[in-house]
Amino acid sequence: MAKMKSAYFCQSCGYETPKWLGKCPSCSEWNSFVEEVVSTSKKEVVAFSSSSGRTAKPQKLGEIETRKEERIQLQDKELNRVLGNGLVPGSLILFGGEPGIGKSTLLLQMAVAEKKSILYVSGEESDQQIRMRAERIGNTNEDCYILTETNVQNIFKQAEILEPDILIIDSIQTIFSQHIESSPGSISQIRECTAALLRFAKQTETPVFLIGHITKEGSLAGPKVLEHMVDAVLQFEGDRNHVYRLLRSIKNRFGSTNELGIYEMLGNGLRQVENPSEILISDSDTSLSGVSIAATLEGLRPMLIEIQALVSTAAYGTPQRSATGFDLRRLNMLLAVMEKRCGFKLAAKDVFLNIAGGIKVDDPAIDLAVVAAILSSNFDISVERNICLSAEVGLAGEIRPVNRIDQRIHEAQKLGFDKIIISKHNKGIDQKNFKIEIVMCSRIEEVLKELF
Ligand code: TYD
Ligand code: MG
Repeated sequence: MAKMKSAYFCQSCGYETPKWLGKCPSCSEWNSFVEEVVSTSKKEVVAFSSSSGRTAKPQKLGEIETRKEERIQLQDKELNRVLGNGLVPGSLILFGGEPGIGKSTLLLQMAVAEKKSILYVSGEESDQQIRMRAERIGNTNEDCYILTETNVQNIFKQAEILEPDILIIDSIQTIFSQHIESSPGSISQIRECTAALLRFAKQTETPVFLIGHITKEGSLAGPKVLEHMVDAVLQFEGDRNHVYRLLRSIKNRFGSTNELGIYEMLGNGLRQVENPSEILISDSDTSLSGVSIAATLEGLRPMLIEIQALVSTAAYGTPQRSATGFDLRRLNMLLAVMEKRCGFKLAAKDVFLNIAGGIKVDDPAIDLAVVAAILSSNFDISVERNICLSAEVGLAGEIRPVNRIDQRIHEAQKLGFDKIIISKHNKGIDQKNFKIEIVMCSRIEEVLKELF
């Protein structure tokens, strides 16, 4: 019997070493090495080989034929836009997200909505389960084929017979190559299967979607290895207890990574949300204290988001601070700024912050709305519903400018707000161009005068 060879792989970046290490020299991750059996013989590692056996020759740059980049336009407008206006033939797209977020639903929905032949390979669910899900979604595509298979060589066999227009693999962690000994989901399997799928995509010009799970820490399992190999990385995120889902592009060789797709999870699948601001602001007429509205930008999309804060006297010694959808350290920083620079006594108060809709925002432009919501709850005076805010708050309590301010102002105006508070240092803003009243402030104190 041939002797099996094993090596240690970093589960975070795929670094390979013959012996176990505590810390990965490549990505500095601790305790990430796992022993995996590697291939016993070299010649077997051919998963999808080209039949032509052609070897590439160097060509002059000017002599390379340029084909007009044809893109496959998808029915799903959000997905289409996030991909950079269509799907490029032969591209390999990694579609990541936490378990249960709706990855299978979105791609199955795409498969049944397209008028194309699509092969949906599932290693996770039975064909009956997929059928049931498709029925729930509604649409039916005559040319959508389901294959429940986990062996990558068998998948290629079927794909060569069927010649689908699009191939979907659900998920990369469940498929395996028979030439590698380690179990499905291990780094060496993921790497080998992805490499084989990449060759398949390039040689047959078939776009391939690869679903990938995200680990607890929030990164794609086998992340770095995969990210380098694929053409685009899309990430599906959102709070499982909420209905909104964001589709972001993290890497895209064929388009911008600033695009954002928004969906709502309904009983019959995912609905594309064209006007995100309307859903992220609750439409109660009564003004409540502790609520303010921020004009933010997610990628290139302007959005108005409701910020809710609750400030109460701490019942126990150490006051609690908690934030959902917002960085807790940033919240602590803003509280310190309010305490030190503006003299509000918040050190002995519990502060809870929540961003409506269960979405995560890292745009610094929501700082001022966070400050407004906290102070509003602290004084128990409501912020008027027709005012929104968009500025960063610095350590000295100064109001700092944010990028693309005119886009934010336009969005606020479009949604019927009467007043927007921004930084005095935003250049080139002319009130004459806008119907909405623009208030420019340079310190928190000035903002307070405007609000309360
Ligand atoms: P799923 O696509 O299986 O997630 P993933 O593939 O990312 O693990 O989505 C599962 C969740 O979506 C599940 O909790 C049920 C919910 N869901 C709906 O709310 N409506 C629907 O129409 C479908 C198909 C699923
Ligand atoms: Mg799934």
